Amino acid sequence: MAVTWSKDLETGNAQIDSEHQTLLKAADDLIDACTKGKGREAIGPAVDFLVSYTKTHFTHEQGLQLKYNFPEYPNHVKWHQTYVADMEALAVKIKEQGPTIAMVAEVNMEISKLLTHIKTMDVRLAKHIKSASGK
Ligand SMILES: [Fe+2]
Ligand SMILES: [Fe+2]
Repeated sequence: MAVTWSKDLETGNAQIDSEHQTLLKAADDLIDACTKGKGREAIGPAVDFLVSYTKTHFTHEQGLQLKYNFPEYPNHVKWHQTYVADMEALAVKIKEQGPTIAMVAEVNMEISKLLTHIKTMDVRLAKHIKSASGK
């Protein structure tokens, strides 16, 4: 199943939304590389980009949380850290085992966790930034 950004994922913060779109595109590219039976050479860069962009995005969000004194910062950061650790472990597995059906299922599971995070914790963050900044 393709991963696409949709309106219900919108947080209302332009930077966060645009980074989420890039993130989902990276996830979709990885699923695509796995399901189209591309070799490990294609999957390695796709998985590396997804992991590195996930970290970049989380770092930006955490910077915004500090800047705007977001009260949920500790929990939000904890969630990000756990997610990055899970993604790093999954990246190692994908590189070792190649694009098996089980791997694709695991990637999909991680993506659905991320979508839930966006719709709940990130939406609350965007609301907070909006009220704190008046933007
Ligand atoms: Fe996010
Ligand atoms: Fe987040």
